[in-house]
Amino acid sequence: MKIIKSASSLSAWRKAVSKSVGFVPTMGALHEGHFSLIKASKKICNKTVVSIFINPTQFAPNEDLNSYPKTLDLDMKGLQDLSVDVLFLPTEEEMYKKVGDIEVRPSGLFNKLEGVSRPHFFYGVSTIVSKLFNVVSPTHTFFGEKDAQQLRVIKQLILNEGYNIKLVPCPTIRNKAGLALSSRNQYLSKEERNYASNIYQGLLLIKNALKLGEKRPAVLKELFKAHIANFSSFTLDYISLACSESLNELEEITSKELLVSCAIYYNEVRLIDNFTYRPST
Ligand code: PAF
Repeated sequence: MKIIKSASSLSAWRKAVSKSVGFVPTMGALHEGHFSLIKASKKICNKTVVSIFINPTQFAPNEDLNSYPKTLDLDMKGLQDLSVDVLFLPTEEEMYKKVGDIEVRPSGLFNKLEGVSRPHFFYGVSTIVSKLFNVVSPTHTFFGEKDAQQLRVIKQLILNEGYNIKLVPCPTIRNKAGLALSSRNQYLSKEERNYASNIYQGLLLIKNALKLGEKRPAVLKELFKAHIANFSSFTLDYISLACSESLNELEEITSKELLVSCAIYYNEVRLIDNFTYRPST
């Protein structure tokens, strides 16, 4: 595995590769969720590039930028074991001073769901992902369905900016108890991870009710809220039933695919999860 730290060296490497290049952007603290994206890339593409860069512009001053988990040695071992071709490991100076600036156009997708509590977030994500796309010039890129809104935003970014990149969504990976894997799970002990899996159990209550034909979003949300209220360490940030395309909150369930998503504070740790559902007609 090549480790490349400068954008110019990465561009030079890329110019010499004529076949398909899959790209998996990450902020490190890698887990099986990331590894599943990398395995998907290795299956489809001739070369796979993974970046590790903790992007400061997607964190607000009150968020966990400074304490964000850093496990570089372990990450590199995992990437090596998967025979990743290139690890791109740029510095902040490289990405924000040397790589050209990006002007992110405001989007109606940014201020919903995650964007309500984290208004800066999708500006930061879009900025860094555009910069990384410009440096890596991948033919394919791999994003997890765990971050459903991010996936939707990146799909729109690729379309709006005319990037010739195929976006490959990959399913959420869960632990045995059902907790969606996330780098932020590293803030939790084993027992706490078990407790946190009750978030997913709440989502399953909604899924089962949908399957049984419940069509009232307010009733479905109440099911989830009542479940979460049983756990004193949880504070609900939001539970949403939205159109999976526009991310607009639904007044009624139609035959269109919906995104059921939530954010919960487990003490200080903010956890998100979701599923998509297409009601049968
Ligand atoms: O999902 C993440 O880890 C980050 O938001 C990303 C896409 C690497 C951008 O910093």
